[in-house]
Amino acid sequence: MDMRIRPRRLRGNEKIRRMVRETRMDKSSLIYPLFVMEGENKREEIPSMPGQYRYTLDILPEKLSQLADAGVGSVMLFGIPDHKDEVGSGAYAEEGIVQKALRRAKIQVPDLYYITDVCMCEYTSHGHCGVLCGQDVDNDKTLELLAKTALSHVQAGADMVAPSDMMDGRVLAIRETLDQAGYAGTPIMSYAVKYASAFYGPFREAADSAPAFGDRKTYQMDFHNSREGVKEALLDVEEGADIVMVKPAMSFLDMVTRVRDMVDVPVAAYSVSGEYAMVKAAARKGWIDEDRIVCEMAASVYRAGAQIYLTYYAEELARFMDEGRIG
Ligand code: PBG
Repeated sequence: MDMRIRPRRLRGNEKIRRMVRETRMDKSSLIYPLFVMEGENKREEIPSMPGQYRYTLDILPEKLSQLADAGVGSVMLFGIPDHKDEVGSGAYAEEGIVQKALRRAKIQVPDLYYITDVCMCEYTSHGHCGVLCGQDVDNDKTLELLAKTALSHVQAGADMVAPSDMMDGRVLAIRETLDQAGYAGTPIMSYAVKYASAFYGPFREAADSAPAFGDRKTYQMDFHNSREGVKEALLDVEEGADIVMVKPAMSFLDMVTRVRDMVDVPVAAYSVSGEYAMVKAAARKGWIDEDRIVCEMAASVYRAGAQIYLTYYAEELARFMDEGRIG
């Protein structure tokens, strides 16, 4: 038989497989999403996300140190305030939960890189990602509040801000506000290609941020659309986004690849709460091998073209990378 090309030659043993590996991963590209709440000495497990918790600020540093020790370089902070109102004032309050968390964390665990999610939905009584005008979110009025929120995060010590609201023009509004306040050097990672997705279900339970009426389809993207995602990513880059994100990850890997080909900034992907919950639930039933599934999911995100990976499994992945099970 005249068969010169035998792909199996390069799969013969672990040494050669590692040599020819196309996707290389590094712990420094992992970002861990973390929920902070008011109160004292409490760590509440999120029912639909076993193994994930909401932390009060006094015990937060313990978790942060653990992440730093594991080699996870960065966290994304989400705040759960005690009080919500129509205009989400807790989002930009000097004594807001994220602002307080940052001030404390930056002193106690200065080695981590602190990113904050900039959005109103955890802070509004109606659960929408901005201020309302009738039954819809008023885009331009919301921009002011988002910019104010981002600035207050940076003033409290955030290293990077990540707007997740999907209002038009938010990156530019935030960029201008930060520049005017003397923070021209603080990067913005935009949730640029963010779909209206059922995969956020467990997060909304965690953050108590489900919309009280309607849905987020007037601002988050229709999951049937791909070219629109490219438009969103290009727009955000034009407005000054330093990094663009695709979210969720697993069902939108095509978008990671498309966006990666279209922009010249780093691309991030976020394996969201629903992805985590599905893996956990099946693993708890004994139906899948959790560790191996987590490794495959991570590799698929990087293989699709992401350079940065946000995941609730960041700590485990850091360990798997150390152990050479992935990477
Ligand atoms: C805030 C925000 C959400 C997520 C990240 N930022 C929820 C939403 O848009 O409803 C989801 C994260 C996850 O599901 O893990 N707007």
